[in-house]
Amino acid sequence: MRKIGVLTSGGDSPGMNAAVRAVVRKGIYHEMDVYGIYYGYQGLMEGNIEKMELGSVGDIIHRGGTVLYSSRSEEFKTDEGQNKAIEQMKKLGIEGLVVIGGDGSFRGAKKLTEKGFPCIGVPGTIDNDIPGTDFTIGFDTALNTIIQSVDKIRDTATSHERTYVIEVMGRDAGDLALWAGLSGGAESILIPEKKEDFDDIVDRIKRGHDRGKRHSIIIVAEGVATGSEVAQKIEEKSNLETRVTVLGHTQRGGSPTASDRVLASRLGAKAVDLLLEGTGGRMVGIQNNKLVDHDILEALEQKSEPEMSIYQLSQELSI
Ligand code: F6P
Repeated sequence: MRKIGVLTSGGDSPGMNAAVRAVVRKGIYHEMDVYGIYYGYQGLMEGNIEKMELGSVGDIIHRGGTVLYSSRSEEFKTDEGQNKAIEQMKKLGIEGLVVIGGDGSFRGAKKLTEKGFPCIGVPGTIDNDIPGTDFTIGFDTALNTIIQSVDKIRDTATSHERTYVIEVMGRDAGDLALWAGLSGGAESILIPEKKEDFDDIVDRIKRGHDRGKRHSIIIVAEGVATGSEVAQKIEEKSNLETRVTVLGHTQRGGSPTASDRVLASRLGAKAVDLLLEGTGGRMVGIQNNKLVDHDILEALEQKSEPEMSIYQLSQELSI
């Protein structure tokens, strides 16, 4: 392949820019023409496409968000929308497409692949919910953002002897909550993949309180319930003063961590390698610290599962 496109789609994640940079620079290194597609699949259907040069991706490796912008397109979910997208690429002679995004974006890439247009999926989402990769681009940065907030909340929780419920993102997945809970020393973690036991949660808080602990941190994944719902239940059962913090979209912004930049660079470059050898219909990922690629159609049939030993360990350490 000599002409390829790259887009970012769905919820943005820190490190997407580093991935775009890797695709563009690696493509140009191999004497390919690389086209940047703005506003995800929506821009693709509308022909919002520009040829990228080396300088187009200069000074972006450290920036959050995505310089190609993003969207969630309803029209692209239709057969007509997908045909329109393919037509736009054919007009410019684009032969392969790198899609950087999450679950929904991968489904789009799967549709194009089924229609015979070679796509490579690069997992970029803070949710860490893509099967076939241990980590997605943006997860580590979001986790660090959450932890900074948890540490700050712990200070004020201690001063006022309060219980804090902190609601984090993740859509239907519990990874962000799980990892934040372990690294933030939370008393309890609520994730969609594990049925919550409120009596146990309250017992833990009370046990800590009785032995002089001045704060309790409960991390709740948005896929379980709202922070307010959880706080209300805890307050009713424990009679302890409880507050809620919803971290919201702060989790999606900010400069990517070194780890996310490295991951994004490696995965972006790997996607180009695959297109270069004429391979499409794959997703790239990292498993056991090795770059891997899988059939995108098969990968999407799997379910990404959280590492439950982390849950168990967190329970044991916050006894
Ligand atoms: O998929 C990323 C994510 O941030 C989820 O964690 C969250 O549920 C969702 O996107 C929020 O979407 P929006 O930015 O459209 O409100």
